[in-house]
Amino acid sequence: MIKAAVIGATGFTGALLARMLQAHPEAQPAVLTSSSFVGRRVHEVFPEIRHEAEYVAYEPSIVSEMDVAFVCYPHTQAHPVVAELRDRGVRVVDLSADFRLPAEDYPEWYGFQHPRPDLVQEAVYGLPERYQEEIRAANIVANPGCFPTGMLLAVLPLAGWLELDLVVVDSKSGVSGAGKTPSSKTHFSTVHDNFRSYTEIGHRHAAEMIGELSRAAGHKVPISFTPHLLPVDRGILSTVYCRPSAGTKIPDEAALRARYEDFYQGKPFLEVREHAPALSEVQYTNYCRVAPLVDRQAGLIKVVSAIDNLVKGASGQAVQNMNLMFGLAETLGLEGRQ
Ligand SMILES: NC(=O)c1ccc[n+]([C@@H]2O[C@H](COP(=O)([O-])OP(=O)(O)OC[C@H]3O[C@@H](n4cnc5c(N)ncnc54)[C@H](OP(=O)(O)O)[C@@H]3O)[C@@H](O)[C@H]2O)c1
Repeated sequence: MIKAAVIGATGFTGALLARMLQAHPEAQPAVLTSSSFVGRRVHEVFPEIRHEAEYVAYEPSIVSEMDVAFVCYPHTQAHPVVAELRDRGVRVVDLSADFRLPAEDYPEWYGFQHPRPDLVQEAVYGLPERYQEEIRAANIVANPGCFPTGMLLAVLPLAGWLELDLVVVDSKSGVSGAGKTPSSKTHFSTVHDNFRSYTEIGHRHAAEMIGELSRAAGHKVPISFTPHLLPVDRGILSTVYCRPSAGTKIPDEAALRARYEDFYQGKPFLEVREHAPALSEVQYTNYCRVAPLVDRQAGLIKVVSAIDNLVKGASGQAVQNMNLMFGLAETLGLEGRQ
């Protein structure tokens, strides 16, 4: 049995992880930390989680006996904890953005100098559909951001297959993507029966998208990313417009779909579709559905992808990474509704 700690277990991703680990056949949520609910039992705070344990305050010594720790803190709060645990030999899956970028990119995108470039260097980007082998051996897995997960899974099969000179990402997210603390912009009264874009220029997830897509393509691919807030709880639907370089022959749709099916062969959570998916097809699951389409008159490839931000975009992907790190079947504890 894998002994797992969830650090920040009362947030949206942490609470879901506690529930998923409780149901996992080969893992147990042995330590659940919180600063707000110390001493309270899990089922008192979350009646839907059948778990008697009490929340405890984070303390590295109580986590050092664990096989793995999931760190579910906000960015900039997570890296000191990851470093403390890693220095004690605990394998870590970090759900924050603190280990996803090269160390030198943190001042520009996150406004701080990363204090542990050695650990950033060691961390593996936790997208199993791309880095499965590296994740198996990793001691720090940087679980990808929710928007980059949906976007990268939509476009990676094109990288290195067709020369792209621009990618435009139009994503719509459910409100749970913003975490449990409401703000005026995420308050029910603002979001309900409404629809808006936000951070149209310079959203931090663009850094992850540019870095990972450029790495896969072998050259820098410009990306323009606009997130939108949907009046729903869960899910991200992205429409990704990919412009091939001048002179690149655009394949017909059957050949394009064949490329996607081939690329994702043996990837249990990727489903290639002929028609664009709806959010309801993937909500509460670890699946990502992608539909690659050809817009010949515009000279574009348009890919629609759908994921659940809290499952494939966060806690489900984290469990998928744990499964790989401990030599388990990738799908263990992840099939069905989460
Ligand atoms: N929500 C998503 O869809 C999603 C998707 C992918 C990645 N992520 C990333 O995953 C991490 C957790 O996200 P989340 O949505 O679970 O966030 P959340 O709901 O806001 O929960 C974060 C938890 O961390 C603890 N915490 C410790 N230090 C904190 C601090 N200084 N400020 C606020 N909370 C603090 C809090 O628990 P206590 O008060 O009990 O200590 C809080 O419940 C973030 O880095 C986020 O960017 C989120």
